[in-house]
Amino acid sequence: MKFTDLLLPLTILLISMESFTSWATENENIFPLSNCSKTCGDIKIEYPFGIGVGCYRTVEFNLTCAYDSDPPRLLLGNDTIQVRNFNMEKGLVYIEPPYVTLNADAYMNSTSIDLKNLPLSFNLGLMYSRTSIELMSFNNLYVAGCNATANILDVSTNGIIGVCSTICSSRNTSTTKQIFMSDNGYCGFDMFDVKTNKNSWAIQLTRLNETENENSMISNNTSSIIALIYDEESSSHDDLQKFINNRNKTGLTATLAWYINDYPTCKEARKRSDTYACRSHRSECSDVFPEDSLYWNETIGYNCRCSLDYDGNPYLPDGCKLGKNFTSTPAKDCQTKCGNITISFPFGLKKGCYRGEGFALTCNETSHPPTLLFGDYYVVSKISLQGKLEFNIPSYFDFSFRQSYFTSSKENMISINWVIDYQSCNDAEKDATTFACMDAHSICVNVNDTGNIQDMGYRCNCSDGYIGNPYLQDGCKEDPQYEAYLVSRKKTLLLGVLLGASIGIGFLLLCITWVILRRKWKSRNQKKIRQRNFHENHGLLLQQIIFTTDYADEKINIFSLEEMEKATNNFDETRVLGKGGHGTVYKGILSDQRIVAIKKSKIVRKSEIDQFINEVAILSQISHRNIVKLLGCCLETDVPLLIYEFVSNGTLSDHLHILQGESKLSWDDRLRIATESAGALAYLHSAASISIFHRDVKSSNILLDDTFRAKVSDFGASRFIPLNQTHIVTAIHGTFGYLDPEYYQTSQLTEKSDVYSFGVILLEILTGKKPAYSTKSGLPQNLTMNFLPATRENMLYDLVEDRVLQEGTEHEILEISNLIKICLSLKGAERPTMKEVEYKLQDIRKARMKKKKVCIPEGNEETERLLTMSSYSSSELMDQINQENSRNYSFEKEVMWSQNYPR
Ligand SMILES: *[C@@H]1O[C@H](CO)[C@@H](O)[C@H](O)[C@H]1NC(C)=O
Ligand SMILES: *[C@@H]1O[C@H](CO)[C@@H](O)[C@H](O)[C@H]1NC(C)=O
Ligand SMILES: *[C@@H]1O[C@H](CO)[C@@H](O)[C@H](O)[C@H]1NC(C)=O
Ligand SMILES: *[C@@H]1O[C@H](CO)[C@@H](O)[C@H](O)[C@H]1NC(C)=O
Ligand SMILES: *[C@@H]1O[C@H](CO)[C@@H](O)[C@H](O)[C@H]1NC(C)=O
Ligand SMILES: *[C@@H]1O[C@H](CO)[C@@H](O)[C@H](O)[C@H]1NC(C)=O
Ligand SMILES: *[C@@H]1O[C@H](CO)[C@@H](O)[C@H](O)[C@H]1NC(C)=O
Ligand SMILES: *[C@@H]1O[C@H](CO)[C@@H](O)[C@H](O)[C@H]1NC(C)=O
Repeated sequence: MKFTDLLLPLTILLISMESFTSWATENENIFPLSNCSKTCGDIKIEYPFGIGVGCYRTVEFNLTCAYDSDPPRLLLGNDTIQVRNFNMEKGLVYIEPPYVTLNADAYMNSTSIDLKNLPLSFNLGLMYSRTSIELMSFNNLYVAGCNATANILDVSTNGIIGVCSTICSSRNTSTTKQIFMSDNGYCGFDMFDVKTNKNSWAIQLTRLNETENENSMISNNTSSIIALIYDEESSSHDDLQKFINNRNKTGLTATLAWYINDYPTCKEARKRSDTYACRSHRSECSDVFPEDSLYWNETIGYNCRCSLDYDGNPYLPDGCKLGKNFTSTPAKDCQTKCGNITISFPFGLKKGCYRGEGFALTCNETSHPPTLLFGDYYVVSKISLQGKLEFNIPSYFDFSFRQSYFTSSKENMISINWVIDYQSCNDAEKDATTFACMDAHSICVNVNDTGNIQDMGYRCNCSDGYIGNPYLQDGCKEDPQYEAYLVSRKKTLLLGVLLGASIGIGFLLLCITWVILRRKWKSRNQKKIRQRNFHENHGLLLQQIIFTTDYADEKINIFSLEEMEKATNNFDETRVLGKGGHGTVYKGILSDQRIVAIKKSKIVRKSEIDQFINEVAILSQISHRNIVKLLGCCLETDVPLLIYEFVSNGTLSDHLHILQGESKLSWDDRLRIATESAGALAYLHSAASISIFHRDVKSSNILLDDTFRAKVSDFGASRFIPLNQTHIVTAIHGTFGYLDPEYYQTSQLTEKSDVYSFGVILLEILTGKKPAYSTKSGLPQNLTMNFLPATRENMLYDLVEDRVLQEGTEHEILEISNLIKICLSLKGAERPTMKEVEYKLQDIRKARMKKKKVCIPEGNEETERLLTMSSYSSSELMDQINQENSRNYSFEKEVMWSQNYPR
């Protein structure tokens, strides 16, 4: 063979390849180029990230591989953030945790994290449907070491965004090894609580200076104070301990979530097919927004993921590949029974038996009879190949987010719907390896159970005359009954024809009409049955959540979704009253003109949906004038909506912490609000049959009505405790600044945890300061940490708010301060009960009333009620009346105090 013979085809090949690549870059913008570095050391580089022009999608995703160490370091952004790995499934970059340490002789140290304008963040949410956001990362601030405070500061304003403090009561936490293990000396909180999308902030670590006269103590054992940010989902406690003990820093990671920011939403991005980032076939797009956003319209970009059952890189053409756990034909030896429940494909118990992990079930053989479980605790009672999974107990999960093939069914709560895949039959048929309708006698059916376009999917049925499992080869068998049916139908037709011949075509028409009518009647009947189920199941649900209701006259109503949409003007953003960690609260106007507050959960962390249900269960047990009343719920949405009485006047926090000017809350109002709230919490702790710990006591959870009466709210985190139990072990829950240090250390929840948090509220009432605040010079401060030293050093009055100094007596302030002190005791056992706190506050108020010559006869409920109901205007009035007295008094007081407490 001659050389030129070879050359020609080669040239043609080269030319065609070249024309292909130039066509590709011009018209399709397919990155990355083929000569891009694929790795840096052991780290596999994933597009849209890349090293150098032509390799990254946009310059924000430019990486640097620094060969100054072995192995080389992969750096991000401004060359300061070190990348450990990429997670394409979730859209995360694992990075080295930002941390700061405090040397033995140092009192302050800080480190800053500057993400500039990079499309990266520590706390982003991802929207799957109009109702739910999933958090992408789970970063925590963590402090290990004794008597230290870590503040997260917004670098631009120097404001505090988060605080975490530790105190050790015992002095024997000496070795670094013990610091993590010991039962004191660490604290932490979820970065999710940091309501900021600021990309530049700092961790500032300071030592608490209580032990100035014991400096020798400090220098011996505190060298290992460390504050860091790490992700609890991607790291183990073991990794954390190793990191803190400085043994192996490579196991622990923090995570940054990234997003594509050329367009703010998927919808807009999709319109430009040349720049749309979700390139792979079987990739999906989700809107991304900052965790502190209040409105659905505040998305900042989008994120691509491979569809369920696919893995790989959705940003590359054909980057998503069918996963290893996918099976289109189940193995021969698959278990088909669990107890007496039949397991049919696509469901299965192990890999190779189910179609994909979405259809995995488990069989708990240890129970009698064995139970078939879906997820962790849903007991399956039946698998229906018509697209339903039925349960023994009602389900509340919101399956509308696209991480499974399930959508909660609208009509009842004990089954959920499933589709085999989120594709139309037309698209599905094109790919023979994944098309699910295996049997020759099966047909594909497009379904849309929820009405959301994105939930469009398909299922398979056996065709007419066949029954069985269309998802298996030879799964559809001839239906013997169908033959009989056909024969009888043939007979009818034959008869019709015969009759037609003699009587005429009119009768045949009548016959057909009858058949149609019969079908219609049948479907109407089915609808009726469905409606009956609906009612029955709601009844079931209610029975479950309202197991013992003593207050039969205060029934929990079930509202329809339609009614709720009307009440909130389709959940209009202008109706948003507030947004808490767990959901959005809307103002609604019912058809009878009643104004209500409607709470809608937002976050789809499994546990938080359960919290929602928890709240219904708890509130249905409670009736107290200082606890916000639950009027009803709406069960037609994926996440139940809760409907409360509308409390019109904002929160105690709003009224105490005024941005500009002085708080309008008088000392009398404050004392009353404190007494009422203490009473409500005491009631919860000792409520008739069951004890309830609130777990999230804070001033923003105390609502005020138009007469400034306190209403304790937000029971999402609360827990029932059987009366014969004094504590339970739970996952740490609470708000930083209010969290009981003992609970944090031991995870043991007791009623005294609420007492601690209530102590913090009393402190806010006394000082007018937030649990975390800044001094005038901008220095970050922790209120509870400053309080104890202040009382000891006779500096208390520096902390107390001016208005309180003017209106309260010295005796009252000291009494409250002593009460706070014991409430904030590090040991729960040393704290008073909520009942004792309530009594003490009542005593203080009674003494005050006596002084003002307003007698409250002992136990006179009516007078007490009148006092508590004193409206804002009348209490203002009372303030004015008392102003004269108190002014004289204040003067005396000032003189007296200046003697005792030189300032
Ligand atoms: C991208 O990073 C490389 C180092 O890896 C640097 O040389 C280059 O200037 C960067 N490109 C841009 C546009 O910033
Ligand atoms: C970070 O970027 C800024 C300007 O963009 C530059 O002045 C600074 O030197 C950079 N820092 C590092 C560590 O590269
Ligand atoms: C501040 O923190 C850094 C990083 O951990 C550490 O290297 C440095 O020694 C610390 N400085 C002081 C004064 O503690
Ligand atoms: C930490 O502070 C507490 C209370 O302020 C004090 O009793 C304790 O001795 C301190 N612990 C250490 C290890 O300095
Ligand atoms: C703590 O004490 C040290 C040394 O006595 C002092 O330099 C530092 O400013 C003090 N810090 C605070 C927050 O008071
Ligand atoms: C701390 O160390 C100093 C000298 O290193 C020693 O004299 C002192 O007793 C130590 N203090 C404690 C409490 O161990
Ligand atoms: C550190 O831990 C990581 C993961 O935990 C492990 O892969 C690595 O080998 C460890 N390195 C050393 C030096 O022990
Ligand atoms: C989002 O909606 C709210 C209320 O409808 C509006 O005030 C706000 O300006 C909107 N934000 C953006 C970014 O469009």
